Amino acid sequence: MKKVTKICCIGAGYVGGPTMSVIASQCPEIKVTVVDINAERINQWNDSNLDNLPVYEPGLSEIVATTRGKNLFFSTEVDKAIDEAEIIFISVNTPTKTYGKGKGQAADLKFIELCARNIARVAKNDKIVVEKSTLPVRTASAIKSILDNTGNGVAFEILSNPEFLAEGTAIEDLLKADRVLIGGDETASGKEAKNTLSAIYEHWLPKERILQTNVWSSELSKLVANAFLAQRVSSINSISALCEKTDANVAEVSRAIGYDSRIGSKFLNSSVGFGGSCFQKDILNLVYIASSFGLQEVADYWEQVIIMNDYQKRRFAENIISTLYNTVSGKKIVFFGWAFKKDTNDTRESAAIYVADALLEERAEIVVYDPKVSEKQIYADLDYLNTRTPEENRRLLKVTKQPIEAIQDAHAIAILTEWDEFKNYDWSEIFKNMLKPAFVFDGRRLLDKESMTELGFNYYKIGES
Ligand code: NAD
Ligand code: UDX
Repeated sequence: MKKVTKICCIGAGYVGGPTMSVIASQCPEIKVTVVDINAERINQWNDSNLDNLPVYEPGLSEIVATTRGKNLFFSTEVDKAIDEAEIIFISVNTPTKTYGKGKGQAADLKFIELCARNIARVAKNDKIVVEKSTLPVRTASAIKSILDNTGNGVAFEILSNPEFLAEGTAIEDLLKADRVLIGGDETASGKEAKNTLSAIYEHWLPKERILQTNVWSSELSKLVANAFLAQRVSSINSISALCEKTDANVAEVSRAIGYDSRIGSKFLNSSVGFGGSCFQKDILNLVYIASSFGLQEVADYWEQVIIMNDYQKRRFAENIISTLYNTVSGKKIVFFGWAFKKDTNDTRESAAIYVADALLEERAEIVVYDPKVSEKQIYADLDYLNTRTPEENRRLLKVTKQPIEAIQDAHAIAILTEWDEFKNYDWSEIFKNMLKPAFVFDGRRLLDKESMTELGFNYYKIGES
């Protein structure tokens, strides 16, 4: 088995940064270099003030503090890091295509191809190339075709090693992974490469949790894992709508079904809808792959998970409008939370963006408070939708770092992210300062209905009548 002394990771994002920080902390004898073409992001990773790291994750800054400059390096020198490394992880973004064939569904693989070409151009000795990004099944063959045709005599082994971390718990998920998946060729050199990568993870995880498969099963399993998780959220969200009509309580239903060990209790929290950079993108990708193989029923089945999620976001926004006497025009509505879940500064596909867009179309005046998301990011999310001009977005929506002051004379509060701090607010004080009747729309089921009603709020909690 190859002795590994240097690793390179292309892509210093939400996956590359935390994953490589953990590998560096667990494998002190290996030099880990994370490279990116985005110089601003690399500068943030190298910032002496650890509050300025580009990714917020509990526990991350502590790990970076102990490894950075020792065996963990962040750099824009992509070629140098590729040249030095025995193992190269590709962890670049693979967004949904916004143009051409497969627009709106297929994964855009241009960044992956650029990485493969970069590796092909620079490599002078044998390398293991690891797909860490989430990729459509059979992408490894495209990467292999680029690498095998360099004519420089370098031998490449391509492995699929998808990442299962969830944001907000990335460090814990990496340190205590349920499983690590490594897909590769069944040839002798393929098996050796899989064992070489496995040995890295064996520094901190028991060998039984490191699963080896063929490369295609590994690529497909990642899409399927995300599709199954998202399907659970859409399933319980569909039931939340039914609960609101029938006096059933979605939390009680979740608990009742989750006690069945065959169903299990996780991922059954009803919400305003799932967000994040992965679920929607990966399901769309699965739908595209299935329909390109002519499996229309399979494609339609999975697409329904997204249709239900869109319905849940729309339903939440429409409920705010109808409850506020069918008009929100000129009414101040304060958003608690903008991130797609708590404990992250990531806003990609956050339900808050879509709820805000629907309310702004009705001329609501929104004030947003999120403890970790910047004003710049919030406006960028809205501007990206192209529904209104940037000037209109800035006129109708304000961002604050003072949530309690913001609720002065507000008609309503909408809870969009389940940040713990919202639970500890002085809600009786908040009630006093709002216009009456004072409405709270809880899209995260964060607060207790009885106490909120006792305080005088008109309180709506998703999944309860
Ligand atoms: P990200 O956008 O946060 O980071 C990707 C980085 O790659 C960016 O900083 C970008 O500048 C860089 N990059 C793009 N092309 C490059 C190139 N040619 N050379 C050097 N750098 C380049 O994305 P992410 O959230 O880290 O996701 C990366 C991959 O991991 C995606 O395929 C995603 O589906 C998958 N994934 C993400 C998560 C998650 O929770 N975010 C979890 C599991 C898997
Ligand atoms: C997901 C997968 O969990 C992870 O394994 C994969 O590597 C990347 O995609 P992530 O998107 O970071 O991780 O967070 P996750 O905890 O899965 O939550 C996704 C969305 O679903 C969030 O908006 C969350 O609030 C929502 N959700 C999750 C619910 O609404 N209810 C639940 O019960 C669970």
